[in-house]
Amino acid sequence: MNEQSIGVGLMGLGIVGGQVARVLVDKAGDLAQQVGCPLVLRKVQVLAPDLTRPQAKEMDSRLFTTDDDEFFADPEVDIVVEAIGGENPAFQYLSRALSSGKHVVTSNKEVIAKHMGELLALAQQYDVGLHYEAAVGGGIPLIMPFQRDLVANEIKGIYAIINGTTNYILTRMAKEGIGFSSALSRAQELGYAEANPENDIEGIDATYKIAILASLAFRTPVRPDDVYSEGISQLNSRDFQYARELGFVIKLLAIAKEGNGSIEVRVHPVFIPEDSFLAKVDGVYNAVQVDGDLVDRVLFFGKGAGALPTSSAVIADTVSAAQDIALGVGNRTKWKLETSKTIKPMSEIETKYYLRMNVTDRPGVLSQIAKVLGDRNIGILSVIQKETESNIQTAELVIMTHPAREEAMQLALGELRQLNVVMEINNFIRVEV
Ligand code: HSE
Repeated sequence: MNEQSIGVGLMGLGIVGGQVARVLVDKAGDLAQQVGCPLVLRKVQVLAPDLTRPQAKEMDSRLFTTDDDEFFADPEVDIVVEAIGGENPAFQYLSRALSSGKHVVTSNKEVIAKHMGELLALAQQYDVGLHYEAAVGGGIPLIMPFQRDLVANEIKGIYAIINGTTNYILTRMAKEGIGFSSALSRAQELGYAEANPENDIEGIDATYKIAILASLAFRTPVRPDDVYSEGISQLNSRDFQYARELGFVIKLLAIAKEGNGSIEVRVHPVFIPEDSFLAKVDGVYNAVQVDGDLVDRVLFFGKGAGALPTSSAVIADTVSAAQDIALGVGNRTKWKLETSKTIKPMSEIETKYYLRMNVTDRPGVLSQIAKVLGDRNIGILSVIQKETESNIQTAELVIMTHPAREEAMQLALGELRQLNVVMEINNFIRVEV
């Protein structure tokens, strides 16, 4: 720490990094008041010093470096703010920053989800702060609430819409009756979905985020590989039509629950009742519902992406790190991740199910389907026969089940596919109530 100021070193000057640099300058007076001394941008590490970028044009070119050694050796950099994203080289950079005794702020969900345990250990070893509020939910406060405000609770469950791109796509499909491809194209035109949208639509982004939240909530390492994940690309406009008729809304939920000593963590499309809070969260907004033994239920809602909301969280973390430095405080997170909790296999979870299938339209078909489900102890809640194509004697069946084990349902689906009277299982969606 310099005598009169605290120095920030920024890694990456993309959408988030550029906005963070702008806020550090534009709000310098307010931030200095919060910290008690000026918070000054001392270095910007970039892959190539593209000084034609709008943000770079406003900055002193002497701040830029492409040399990692020069960046980490700078004694005036007290806090490293990483905004480059991805696992590597971010993981090496964060490890190096912590090992150099620098406090770290990152917006990088992938590196935190994959390496939380190692990075927390390094932060403790070198007695510096590791801050990652912006990694989950953009501007919505989530990490600190789990680390501080909810700490007295036994967390029972987290139910989260934590990917704005997919929530936008699902909202358009539900409200306009359009198909997945059209809704994705619109999201791309508006800049919500990336040219390669895989990370969002296949549930990978949500997987990183729920792995982080579950690790914090249950104080145990939950890695992305522990999370069962399905995306939204298999959803069809008919699923939305039938969901509406049955009083449900389809959302991509990230779910984490603890019970009987094990944890279930999953990301997949679900039917949720249309009158629930999460069903009303539309467009690019995110929302996280947390159920705890003391607090009962709390809800977090807001913008989970974008330069401005994300910079709000990054700057808050930077101020917090600077306050700690000013007070001579090192690492404040003394808790360790326990390793005794087990992750429940997906086959053991229990939910209700929605099934949509094309079948032969003749007497006795329903009883064959009911027998397959009944033999697996899966109770039928309702059956509706939808579109009938009389010329080819087929019908579409929509079945809602009582709660059943996933393993039984998967076995039953396999057996249903073998029946001559079942032409196709069109979709199968879990129901959360
Ligand atoms: N791509 C993410 C989303 C934002 O659509 O919510 C960054 O985490």
